[in-house]
Amino acid sequence: MQPFQDPQVDADHDWMITFFDRLRMSPGGPTEDPRVFRQLAACLLDYLSGHCQREEQLMRDRGYEETDGHAEAHRQLQREFQRLLMPRLEGHLDLEEDLRLVRELFLCHIVTWDDAFGAWLARHPGRSTTSGRDGP
Ligand SMILES: [Fe+2]
Ligand SMILES: [Fe+2]
Repeated sequence: MQPFQDPQVDADHDWMITFFDRLRMSPGGPTEDPRVFRQLAACLLDYLSGHCQREEQLMRDRGYEETDGHAEAHRQLQREFQRLLMPRLEGHLDLEEDLRLVRELFLCHIVTWDDAFGAWLARHPGRSTTSGRDGP
């Protein structure tokens, strides 16, 4: 993965991947308690939403020309997460497979859309400071 040189956005990627892996490898497997899973799924969707907003803000701040297309890919990714995670709350039981799929979707988004932005930032070094946000 191409680092964004933005500590928060890079940390978001690590957090999400670690979250998937911890859930899948938790003792006894992923939780079978629907109430607990509802909270986990809500947390995951909420974090993904916040991450997408932070990333899009970073793109706008840096003047990235592909921001709109990338933002649309984010909406699609969020819809896919919901499509995969929500049926679980209604009794569909293959959480292990669902988690594998959302993890794969997230990684796929990173190595296509996010890496393209990371490569663009690397070609525009004046816009890729490590301070998180450029000053006025
Ligand atoms: Fe992204
Ligand atoms: Fe991302």
